[in-house]
Amino acid sequence: MIPDFEQIWATLPFPAFVLDAQNQLSHANSAAEQMVKSSAKQLRMRSVASLFGGNSLIAATVAQARANSGSLVQYNVDVGLNDVDPITCNLHVAPLGADTDTLLLLIQPTGVAQKMSRSLTHMAAGRSVVAMSAMLAHELRNPLAGISGAAQLLAMNANEGDLELTELIETETRRIGKLIDRVEHFGDDRPISVSAVNIHDVLDRTVRAAKAGFANHIAFSVEYDPSLPDAAGDSDQLLQVFQNIIKNAAEANTGTHGKIKVRTSFNSGVKFAISGHQAQNVPLQIEISDNGTGIPESMIAEVFDPFVTSKSNGSGLGLPLVSKIIAAHGGLVECDSTPERTTFTIRLPIWRPQTDT
Ligand SMILES: Nc1ncnc2c1ncn2[C@@H]1O[C@H](COP(=O)(O)OP(=O)(O)O)[C@@H](O)[C@H]1O
Ligand SMILES: [Mg+2]
Repeated sequence: MIPDFEQIWATLPFPAFVLDAQNQLSHANSAAEQMVKSSAKQLRMRSVASLFGGNSLIAATVAQARANSGSLVQYNVDVGLNDVDPITCNLHVAPLGADTDTLLLLIQPTGVAQKMSRSLTHMAAGRSVVAMSAMLAHELRNPLAGISGAAQLLAMNANEGDLELTELIETETRRIGKLIDRVEHFGDDRPISVSAVNIHDVLDRTVRAAKAGFANHIAFSVEYDPSLPDAAGDSDQLLQVFQNIIKNAAEANTGTHGKIKVRTSFNSGVKFAISGHQAQNVPLQIEISDNGTGIPESMIAEVFDPFVTSKSNGSGLGLPLVSKIIAAHGGLVECDSTPERTTFTIRLPIWRPQTDT
């Protein structure tokens, strides 16, 4: 079979452009059209500088490739276009054959791929810990009840000094009991029951409860996209997701200037597929940001892993649970952090009444 190069060109998953000797765009594939939100026709004969900016790294990379008259790869370049947030990409620039001034420019986004693979790794880590935690929780409950009962018996005839110790045993066993509850919850592997969920309702409920409780020192602000469609989800579980993230945000900010911002938006560009499944659109975007301490660089790759915590009384199970629930929704969760700004971004699929789930 002779490959149809037109088809290959159109099917390439990355934006690709062909540049003539003047750095004008002579061809753009579909991914490129999508990226710059114009048709190949509209793009024809626009220059790289006019499209991406004369001072852009893309223009610089193209110029450098021309100066070297060879191919060039530039890793981890932030590519920004007008009103969209920049995305991290690898740029490949190569002459299209020898003795030609025609260049191929390939833009390969890396950020999303890396974050997705990270998020998928968490799913696997989460699953392996689920089985163990269920077993442990079960095995720990009985001896714990025994210890607590024995402490109560001892307390009945104890003198003042010993009473302090029996109380200590009781508070600590209660603490372990709570931890077991959480672990057990984490091990709960029942499938989620999906229905139409108004994300704003769930967020409002979470914020209201947070303000009344663990986040009463925090100023909240919300920025909702009023046209946001319903999500396909389990509202109780999503509430738990938002609660865990907001709780961490509140705990990262013990001062009096704590701020948490909750933002929703519609972003149709994000699709993802787990191998073997159909690609799923996850356009509902929920961002929860805080201005707290931030997550140390060394920890950021692991925050979704079980038992990772920086808190003396933390369990490290909050974010793994978030990751597990969002994965069960076919969604994505990722996190970005600098000392002044930590943002958790959740992406969820839209509710479609006709889908039989
Ligand atoms: N908004 C945030 N700001 C700073 N650090 C955070 C934030 N969210 C999570 N973290 C870090 O991630 C760790 C893991 O969070 P989590 O899984 O909820 O466990 P826990 O809250 O029990 O420690 C936290 O201990 C903290 O170090
Ligand atoms: Mg937590």
